[in-house]
Amino acid sequence: MLPHKQLEQRLQPAVRAVLPDADIGSVLVRPCPDPKFGDYQTTALMALAKPRKLNPRQLAADVLARLEVGDLCEKVEIAGAGFLNFRLKAAAVAKTLSAAASGEHLFFDKAIRPRTVVVDFSSPNVAKPMHVGHIRSTILGDSLARLLGLLGHRVITDNHIGDWGTQFGMLLVGWKRDLDPTALKTDAIAELERLYKRVSAECKDNPATLEAARQELVKLQAGDEENLRIWREMIALSQVQFDAIYARLGVKFDHTLGESFYNPRLKALVDELIARGIARESEGAKAVFFEDLPQLKDTPALIQKSDGGFNYTTTDLATLAYRLETWRPDEVIYVTDGRQQLHFQQVFAAFRRWHPEAPMKLAHVWFGSILGEDGKPFKTRSGETVKLADLLDEAEERAFKVVTEKSPDLPEPQRREIARVVGIGAVKYADLLPNRQSDYVFSWDKMLALSGNTAPYLQYACARIRSIFRKGGETSNREPQTANLELAAPEELALARHLLNFGLVLDAAADEYRPNYICNYLYDLAGHFTRFYENCPVLKADAAERTSRLLLCDLTARVLKQGLEVLGIETLEQM
Ligand code: ARG
Repeated sequence: MLPHKQLEQRLQPAVRAVLPDADIGSVLVRPCPDPKFGDYQTTALMALAKPRKLNPRQLAADVLARLEVGDLCEKVEIAGAGFLNFRLKAAAVAKTLSAAASGEHLFFDKAIRPRTVVVDFSSPNVAKPMHVGHIRSTILGDSLARLLGLLGHRVITDNHIGDWGTQFGMLLVGWKRDLDPTALKTDAIAELERLYKRVSAECKDNPATLEAARQELVKLQAGDEENLRIWREMIALSQVQFDAIYARLGVKFDHTLGESFYNPRLKALVDELIARGIARESEGAKAVFFEDLPQLKDTPALIQKSDGGFNYTTTDLATLAYRLETWRPDEVIYVTDGRQQLHFQQVFAAFRRWHPEAPMKLAHVWFGSILGEDGKPFKTRSGETVKLADLLDEAEERAFKVVTEKSPDLPEPQRREIARVVGIGAVKYADLLPNRQSDYVFSWDKMLALSGNTAPYLQYACARIRSIFRKGGETSNREPQTANLELAAPEELALARHLLNFGLVLDAAADEYRPNYICNYLYDLAGHFTRFYENCPVLKADAAERTSRLLLCDLTARVLKQGLEVLGIETLEQM
């Protein structure tokens, strides 16, 4: 068992002995924010003291008197307003590392109560190229899905593609009138985009085209054979492009149920909400009003327009109901940009009224924009939105230059493969590292730098550790190892203590939907490793020390690899 869990298990009965009515589930042990004061701390006693009007330091002293942790910790200290600070003994740290080396764990535990979690992410729109705005949803969503899966939850990923809506009226007009079959063969999305742009520009000053588009849309909605066939073809062509990008990014979905999948449910949904008084008519339209919710009282959610059409909100309500019936999830997570915050507040609030019995947690995990180096929304030189495929091509091309500079002697195919892993990894990491809610500036030079908090730096750190094993003629220790670890040098201990916190960081990242915690943890880990490696000879150390230090190297490489993997970033044995 990991040391912080062991501490919790002993702390909780000690608290119960002093305060028999306390909720000991809240008595948790977390990393000490400043390692100067210890490895772990608990702040729970202050929270327990307050409502009971107890002196928190006295409570801490009373609990401490009943706490037996001498085998794990140095002297436990009561600090500040009444925290307890714990410093692990070197032997306890070494014991945990030995358990990891023998394959018992990799410093994290699977969830005790696995949950079923639906992750709705990526969700691009048909007949439009995926652009950088979709990149954040795809990368963040994928890493959250991987993280929850690693922690033992049952994860269901669903790509809610935009395959329905008014744009299809214009696309149908363009397809029937102006389609260039050769262009469609070479680059379907570009051709669909051309048609859409042309017709939508025409609609602005030609009422006849606008009317034609409306007619085509009505026919499509009414189930016209020909329009349905063309619409299906547009979806299939778009899906080919989406799939090519997902393959490059290593992203998979369990389901791709687009918006259109829910069309048959929309009418009944609106009828039911009206019948139950959850929605009502207003100026010919139908909407859910939230008079009792201060933040939503002025923004009713429209669910049927006055022309009878349904909208994004109607579809999202139907989608949630479907997910509830089909998967009975404990939680549904939506990953989109911050501009959709109001939309999801409305959807969640309306859904709670419609299904007050549904216990599931609903979370909108939103993110900021990607900016160019001029601080404005990220665009190409000619002012177009950047297409995701072009961006990934450029990442690989630039990474190829970096790799060639660093390792000119490797054969080209190998340099290309390294460049693929480094280029895609760099783009993903740059996207995951900032606090997701802030905008970030897209900078090739920064994300591809071999030093600093970047993917290439961490990928090289990983490969460097593997090269120690090659140099030493050792196979990296994939087999469980039973050797004892001896941790004596301060750099060795600091590295080992940092390894112990991997699971706490994974848990925090999952609880708050913030993969950036993992990025920063891995960056610090690589720093601890560098200090260790500079100060503690490994291959030149004598037998027992050598074995022990090689184990430390191997555990570091495994945590780095696992950490990057959960971010969706590949590593290589050799770079
Ligand atoms: N297609 C939408 C867009 O590109 C995102 C959909 C997000 N998911 C959802 N269930 N609303 O903005």
